[in-house]
Amino acid sequence: MRVLIFGSNGQLGQDLTGQSRSRGWECVGADLPACDITRFDHIEDAFTRAGRVDAVINAAAYTAVDAAESNAGIAFAVNRDAVTLLAQACARRGLPLIHVSTDYVFDGLKTNAYLPDDPVNPQGVYGRSKAEGEAALRQHWERHVIVRTSWLFGVHGPNFVKTMLRLGKERDTLRVVDDQVGCPTYSGDLAAALLAIAAQVADRNDAWGTYHFCNDVPVTWYAFTRRILALARPYERFRASEIVPILTAHYPLPAPRPPFSVLDCTSLEQRFGIARRSWEEALKEMLAALYTR
Ligand SMILES: NC(=O)c1ccc[n+]([C@@H]2O[C@H](COP(=O)([O-])OP(=O)(O)OC[C@H]3O[C@@H](n4cnc5c(N)ncnc54)[C@H](OP(=O)(O)O)[C@@H]3O)[C@@H](O)[C@H]2O)c1
Repeated sequence: MRVLIFGSNGQLGQDLTGQSRSRGWECVGADLPACDITRFDHIEDAFTRAGRVDAVINAAAYTAVDAAESNAGIAFAVNRDAVTLLAQACARRGLPLIHVSTDYVFDGLKTNAYLPDDPVNPQGVYGRSKAEGEAALRQHWERHVIVRTSWLFGVHGPNFVKTMLRLGKERDTLRVVDDQVGCPTYSGDLAAALLAIAAQVADRNDAWGTYHFCNDVPVTWYAFTRRILALARPYERFRASEIVPILTAHYPLPAPRPPFSVLDCTSLEQRFGIARRSWEEALKEMLAALYTR
């Protein structure tokens, strides 16, 4: 297999390139500054450099959720308009495109897990730009797989786990939101799922569409933080002796967060035969990798 990965220097992108090489695949990475996906010529250069590839994965995105509220232009340029360019580039070459999206396309008002076909209703600029990026891909190239994920954490962060590890060393007390429920997802596990999908879609053509992937089981940020610090204690001395649950209303941020963003992953599990594990098991692996590298 030979894959072209856009956003190869990001949190997910680094896991994708690392894992594809450990599988013995050839992998061509593209990222800023040499490859700005908002630029047609940069995308064309990346394809020329890559030569013959079996699949394309887009892990590039404008991911600054709060900054997007005051930078809508760049958010839509990267998360929507550039996806059109990538879709058209793949369509011209007949190449499958695997694209990563987010739970933020939903409003978070459901009380049971979101299905891939549930109507989107993003609440902030980032979520809107990602939802419109999905729509652009569906419109411009049918041979696509969109994989929505949530609460990503990995060795190559920045991410919530790394922030809590840092704050745990700096502060006596951590105050963490306890009224938002979601599923943390290890970027290593997501990368493995995306590569498994890439291998399958390169060989067959009946699995196009939108899917969900996250680790199990739903948790609040507060409960997640308690486990992060508990599992990291063997590696690190923390100053924080108290973790206090708070309400979202007491931690105002520029972009609204979905209160409930659990994703139903059944269709991805069944269609691609991908098994999911608990975020806790994945977190142990991430911490071991983080502290021993
Ligand atoms: N992080 C999460 O919690 C989360 C949750 C749900 C879904 N997702 C989705 O998962 C995917 C991967 O996220 P991630 O956490 O790996 O994000 P990330 O670490 O921010 O990686 C995104 C990569 O894309 C690059 N990029 C930004 N603008 C670009 C442009 N114009 N041209 C080319 N590359 C560009 C970034 O470069 P710079 O760093 O230099 O800007 C970065 O290397 C994204 O689609 C994101 O929407 C993430």
